[in-house]
Amino acid sequence: MNKPMKLTILGATGSIGMSTIDVMLRHPDKFTAYALVGHKNATRMAELAAKVHPELVVMTDEDAYAALKGKLPQDVKLAFGMDAAEAASAHDDVDMVMAAMVGSAGLPATLAAVRAGKRVGLANKECLVTAGRIFMQAAKTYGAEIVPVDSEHAAVHQALAGHDRDSVTRIILTASGGPFRQRDPKTLRDVTPAEAIAHPNWSMGAKISIDSATMMNKALELIEARWLFDAKAEQLSAIIHPQSIVHAMVEYRDGSVLAQLAMPDMRSPIVYAMQAEPRLESGIPWLELAQTQPLEFQAIDDERFPAMVLVKAVLAGEDSLAIAFNAANEVANQAFQDGKIGFMDIVATVESVMAKTNNLYVKSLEEVWSFDAEARQLAKDLIRIC
Ligand SMILES: NC(=O)c1ccc[n+]([C@@H]2O[C@H](COP(=O)([O-])OP(=O)(O)OC[C@H]3O[C@@H](n4cnc5c(N)ncnc54)[C@H](OP(=O)(O)O)[C@@H]3O)[C@@H](O)[C@H]2O)c1
Repeated sequence: MNKPMKLTILGATGSIGMSTIDVMLRHPDKFTAYALVGHKNATRMAELAAKVHPELVVMTDEDAYAALKGKLPQDVKLAFGMDAAEAASAHDDVDMVMAAMVGSAGLPATLAAVRAGKRVGLANKECLVTAGRIFMQAAKTYGAEIVPVDSEHAAVHQALAGHDRDSVTRIILTASGGPFRQRDPKTLRDVTPAEAIAHPNWSMGAKISIDSATMMNKALELIEARWLFDAKAEQLSAIIHPQSIVHAMVEYRDGSVLAQLAMPDMRSPIVYAMQAEPRLESGIPWLELAQTQPLEFQAIDDERFPAMVLVKAVLAGEDSLAIAFNAANEVANQAFQDGKIGFMDIVATVESVMAKTNNLYVKSLEEVWSFDAEARQLAKDLIRIC
């Protein structure tokens, strides 16, 4: 029998991290944990460590690290900081890294996994949005395998498998439309963070739930797909599908369209990223099409979702625009969560920051961080005057 695959889970205390642990514990003969990496949630990490028994726990927040001292099982080591997270990603014993931190904060530890030639399950889409060129080049250089965990990209991956890439005409991502698909646009100004986080189909972390409500999430996913599948802007599109059963489609030159369907539960793409074939049980409910609502599709209304207009400029432009798009969104999304700006100000802030950003090719990680910092500062300056 093969040895179980050893994992480092970045963002173990989050929604994707915990779903990964759920899958791991269903298959103890196949998966085991080397390290669990969290940020601030010490209480949850103590519970997870007791359940999973990893060799190492890393907290990237100093107070959370201090709070965990003496709270872990005796044989579990504890470390602090992003350097320790990077080391946990690149460790020789690790076979796979699940990249599930949120935001571009996840880039260094995920890139460390890529540079160590690991299999990387990529949920943390902001890595590819901010540094797609550097990231994919590193994967090639170091022989790392990047397997998408975003449900749409996992669907595309499956619909592409075994097919000729040159025959692909379109990659179509589906979007649920979020909680405000049918809400009167005039009332969107008054949306509260709690309303924006209440996604109709998916249970996710706060940031991505708000990104889904603004459709920034789909915009980020289109940029992610560009790098993952080496696709041209004109091959990428998105469509609203409120039931979130069809996750994506790939259209071929002969007019044939391959779709992947599953109940909306992240354990399906997670288990696929951990082991594609033979398929493993994931714990998600079976899809009974005769008992689900009819599957509907509709075009995305650009007026309601201006993020989808902005992303066209990002896809047509250079890397600096994608970095600014993501960084400004991270700042604005957090400011909305903190009650500092309204819901409609999120995308407006991103648009204003992009208007002030030069459209430039980015060659190095230093340049990535420099554009990222500049965009964050611009967004913060704008929010103060919002
Ligand atoms: N949830 C989904 O269904 C879903 C689907 C597709 C893609 N994704 C993507 O997966 C990623 C994670 O999403 P999620 O919903 O799981 O988010 P989440 O529930 O908010 O969890 C985020 C994780 O990242 C950690 N974290 C937060 N800030 C950090 C920082 N500055 N440095 C290091 N770690 C930090 C958190 O640690 P603490 O909690 O300990 O502070 C937590 O473990 C995102 O990029 C998202 O777009 C998620």
